[in-house]
Amino acid sequence: MQKPTNEGIGIGIEYSFLKMLTPCRMKWPEPAFDIASHTLPGLNCGMKAAQLVEIRRPVQISDIPEPEPREDEAVIQLNAAALNRRDYWITQGMYPGITLPCVLGSDGCGVVSATGNAVSKDWIGREVIINPGINWGQSDIHQSDEFRILGMPDDGTLAERVAVPAGLICRKPAHLSAEEAAALPLAGVTAYRALFTQGQFRPGQKVLISGIGGGVATLALQFAVAAGGEVYVSSSSSEKTGKAIAMGATGGFLYTGDHWQKKAPAMDLIIDGAGGPGYNQLLSLISPGGTIVNYGATAGPPSQVDFFKLFWKQARLIGSTMGSPMDFSAMMEFVEKHQIRPVVDRVYPLDQAGEAIERMGRAPQFGKTVVKIRP
Ligand SMILES: NC(=O)c1ccc[n+]([C@@H]2O[C@H](COP(=O)([O-])OP(=O)(O)OC[C@H]3O[C@@H](n4cnc5c(N)ncnc54)[C@H](OP(=O)(O)O)[C@@H]3O)[C@@H](O)[C@H]2O)c1
Repeated sequence: MQKPTNEGIGIGIEYSFLKMLTPCRMKWPEPAFDIASHTLPGLNCGMKAAQLVEIRRPVQISDIPEPEPREDEAVIQLNAAALNRRDYWITQGMYPGITLPCVLGSDGCGVVSATGNAVSKDWIGREVIINPGINWGQSDIHQSDEFRILGMPDDGTLAERVAVPAGLICRKPAHLSAEEAAALPLAGVTAYRALFTQGQFRPGQKVLISGIGGGVATLALQFAVAAGGEVYVSSSSSEKTGKAIAMGATGGFLYTGDHWQKKAPAMDLIIDGAGGPGYNQLLSLISPGGTIVNYGATAGPPSQVDFFKLFWKQARLIGSTMGSPMDFSAMMEFVEKHQIRPVVDRVYPLDQAGEAIERMGRAPQFGKTVVKIRP
């Protein structure tokens, strides 16, 4: 039976099945609740959740059965959840393998309320966040074929409670509020892997983060600034570039302007989640021998890639998806070390989750959209 340990912060998620039951090894505060039983009292009468029932319809608040933990799982009573663009893509039918009905939401912060038989009951009452990457697998280089992301097909965090493999829960960093902690996992691990593991960022490098209003982008900005980069951003909004500069960026550019890339210095590294028709501007902007890491395609796939620039500049184009358990643990350590607080743009109550997802599609946000579940 696995127990939360007291060995200090470390890389605790390892690769055998049994070790997947070992959550991050971090110091634990005293539990917030009495842990005399395996389940917190009064939790067996059904719960509220934001369910997607039909594509291109808002999520609806439904009463659904309580999740029962399988033997290697923990149930988290959620205090806050956060949205990712994935939630919006799924509501629009623009995501592979959609199965409905489903509770959306990949990110969450809450308190362990029940555990399966193979998981220590010492977890009960602990405040945790969830790594949403299920079944990453053995390799650090890429995820396994069984990899999936919490929040479709598995019921996700836009609910009062969620059951997850216990190996994916991690102590909530003490310096974060529940809303900030919920905003961290998916965007944080994606930004961390894109910047450090795939991008091999080094202090002093010039790095461009595109589409700075995005949740992944704002965390990439915070990580790159904390790690000593000369950071530039692009956006559709001068208000957002201004906010990025206030957070430590050296300069900002409007990607909606003509030839904006001519005003920017050559970049050693570009972290891009947009793709789209402007992609060749990134190839103009990259230094010889530089690297472009792509983690998304909000603006769609580029219809043409300037191959001449690509090979003449000896540039590297690298894909990146979320992150391995090692990336997740390293991201958590980095966030604690630099006391990074994710930018929370707006907080909605659970019964307005549909509105929150719809707003995300229009991208007015700077940072993360959070759904508060318990006061
Ligand atoms: N591979 C993975 O593991 C992974 C993980 C997370 C996200 N993603 C993908 O990465 C993308 C961003 O995710 P997110 O959750 O951070 O989304 P988000 O918070 O909704 O941010 C989207 C941002 O995209 C920017 N954008 C839109 N069109 C752009 C363009 N033509 N050029 C540059 N930027 C543009 C906008 O920035 P401005 O407002 O500043 O204009 C917008 O704020 C999505 O496509 C998502 O599906 C992939």
